[in-house]
Amino acid sequence: MIVIRGATTISADTKEEIRKAVGELLEQIENKNMLKKEEIVSIVFSSTSDIHSYYPAKAAREAGFMSCSLFSAQEPDIEGGLPLCIRVMLFVEKNLSPAHVYLRGAKCLRKDIAGKYNVAIDGPAGSGKSTVAKRIARDCSILYLDTGAMYRACALKALEAGVDLDNEAAIVDLMRGVRLEVVYEDGVQKTMLDGRDVSEVIRENAVSMAASSVSRHPSVRMHLVEKQREIAGRMSCVIDGRDIGTFVLPDADFKFYLTASPDVRAKRRYDELAGKGVTVDFGALKAEIIRRDEQDMNRAFAPLKKAEDAVLIDTSDMTIDEVVARIERVMQEKI
Ligand code: DC
Repeated sequence: MIVIRGATTISADTKEEIRKAVGELLEQIENKNMLKKEEIVSIVFSSTSDIHSYYPAKAAREAGFMSCSLFSAQEPDIEGGLPLCIRVMLFVEKNLSPAHVYLRGAKCLRKDIAGKYNVAIDGPAGSGKSTVAKRIARDCSILYLDTGAMYRACALKALEAGVDLDNEAAIVDLMRGVRLEVVYEDGVQKTMLDGRDVSEVIRENAVSMAASSVSRHPSVRMHLVEKQREIAGRMSCVIDGRDIGTFVLPDADFKFYLTASPDVRAKRRYDELAGKGVTVDFGALKAEIIRRDEQDMNRAFAPLKKAEDAVLIDTSDMTIDEVVARIERVMQEKI
């Protein structure tokens, strides 16, 4: 006997929505596990307390699950839990490794079960880590912390102040005198420098290389690492960077290292800039990415490196959806 899990959300507490969502969830579970209905011994549903209109078990019977026992229960309210969520467990007479199914944003860990956890995602520029990290954070309803933005803000400040990027003491002095804040508006991280929103300007190309340069200095790093550890210590978050799994949070609950070929990474950055109406020379962009990697990987203090216990994912030939699914599968298995 095996147990297959699944969950889905509904957009409104109506009979129609519940029937549709339950039908879709069970159909996908059947397909992904190549199940025959007669192999299912019983199905247990639980739904959040904001669902009253219909029993998921009744919806399952109507969807053709005639020969198994069915049961529906209501969950207690969990602070920060997903609203309008239906969860299911199928007890199945079959010997296979179960493919669990999470639909409509019901993809990730339940906060009440998981407690506080941190997900570390490291990798070079263009490996897809920030896009993926944002998605994981959204699916898990936890915070996304982009540590690259902190180094970028620091570099911007140094560039604006005309400070030599090799002058470690001057940069740290400068940083001690500024207010660097990471704030969230509708779940989106904003980087504030002395009250100014610099989220956009720090993405400029000139700032990328400068960020890599200022990040070589141990005292600059420690200044920012302290803030990162403080945030990660207080709440669950997905945190991306270069040294998260190796240095910032060596005990992170989940660690991933994303990579991709230089060509693919340069192409992604090229497309991103093109999307903003900026045209750049592809060859020069690729050369810059390679130079930045070298600088990030070869610095003496907390260089870019895969943590031994991180899961390596080469995203060169993968879509964002595939990378997200892979990471969430690893997380689900560990919980
Ligand atoms: O992820 P990003 O491209 O925004 O990062 C910009 C630079 O900041 C990167 O080239 C190296 C540095 N960085 C770092 O050294 N450690 C981190 N945790 C994040 C970024």
